[in-house]
Amino acid sequence: MGGTPAAARELELRHPGGVTTVVLGDGALAAAAERLADWTAGRALFVVSTPRVLALHGGALEALGRAPARLQVLEVDEGEEAKTLATAERLWRAMLAGGGKRDSRLVAFGGGSATDLGAFVAGCFLRGIGCALLPTTLLAQADAAIGGKSALDLPEGKNSVGLFHHPDLVVGDAAWLRTLPAGELRSGLFEIVKMAAVLDATLLDELEGRLDDLLAGDLGALGAAAAAGAAVEARVVAADPEEHGERRLLNFGHTLGHAIESALGYRGLRHGEAVGYGMLFALRLAARRGLAAADGRRLRDLLRRMGLPPLPALAGDDLVARLQRDKKAREDGLVWVLPRAAGAGSLARDVTVDEVRLELPPFLADPFAV
Ligand SMILES: NC(=O)c1ccc[n+]([C@@H]2O[C@H](COP(=O)([O-])OP(=O)(O)OC[C@H]3O[C@@H](n4cnc5c(N)ncnc54)[C@H](O)[C@@H]3O)[C@@H](O)[C@H]2O)c1
Ligand SMILES: [Zn+2]
Repeated sequence: MGGTPAAARELELRHPGGVTTVVLGDGALAAAAERLADWTAGRALFVVSTPRVLALHGGALEALGRAPARLQVLEVDEGEEAKTLATAERLWRAMLAGGGKRDSRLVAFGGGSATDLGAFVAGCFLRGIGCALLPTTLLAQADAAIGGKSALDLPEGKNSVGLFHHPDLVVGDAAWLRTLPAGELRSGLFEIVKMAAVLDATLLDELEGRLDDLLAGDLGALGAAAAAGAAVEARVVAADPEEHGERRLLNFGHTLGHAIESALGYRGLRHGEAVGYGMLFALRLAARRGLAAADGRRLRDLLRRMGLPPLPALAGDDLVARLQRDKKAREDGLVWVLPRAAGAGSLARDVTVDEVRLELPPFLADPFAV
């Protein structure tokens, strides 16, 4: 990404079901317009989006509307609220009423919530129709729209029902990021830092070098960072589509991050920010396992520069209980992703509950201390 002018970048993600073409960066929609037209030509097209995204960036519908036999917009709530079975059922029924067939297409246009919902709805409708994702947040362009995972929430837990359904196309225009609130932008950046910290030393250098531009909302830098993040994700997903090995490194910061989010009732910190704190805690565990002090300092400094909001008051015992519940969800116990060096991570299975119980209170008191 280093300093190159803003432009659309294209990559291919190979997966067991075929290939997904991903187009990201400034001008991505224009660059993909012809492909979208071929993909929708003569078919019924359903566009799942939210009122805010349509109000801000509804001009994209013009590019989508050129070729299909007909286009129907299906509006859903903003954000996580939309990820329910009730919403999915409403969409399936609207699609049937609107003449949806096996060869119909679905486009999800919005943040990761809309793309998660849209991919799920497409994956189940008539046992699966083709979908394209048009992510409009940094988090969704670099992460949520890449990799074929889709999910809905149940009252019992986030992302409790879902399936792998790879989109045919992902198109994320950097211009859409212009309207994204600074906090949402930063939340997405934490996910890109996460990938760089354990999977890509070159990207880590680049993020450090352009952090000020990224935080200032420079669209060239953001488009390039989204594309670089998506490329890491695509490489890892192609090698490990069902998350048995390397793909698990993408969970860096998420073990404690999820426990923090759930302890806070999903309020007070954004997902990326909770992951930021999760990465800091993982750095602490890694320091006990020989991570060089200079590498640890480098990653901590980057996280500090990104500007985490203060960590709300949390009880260590409560977090441990939540982590243990997470542990039951996996056959092989709780696996932590820890950096071995700046830009390289590994899975650690030797972190005991006692160690976590011991490390949490000093961490909660001063998250940046080692
Ligand atoms: N499937 C995966 O692999 C995966 C990976 C990571 C996250 N996710 C999911 O992604 C979701 C989070 O996605 P998100 O961070 O994009 O949040 P989001 O989709 O909830 O959007 C956040 C807010 O930003 C608004 N918004 C979207 N685009 C905008 C724009 N261009 N300008 C202004 N406002 C805009 C939305 O209306 C919403 O209010 C979570 O549900 C998470 O579980 C999925
Ligand atoms: Zn995440």
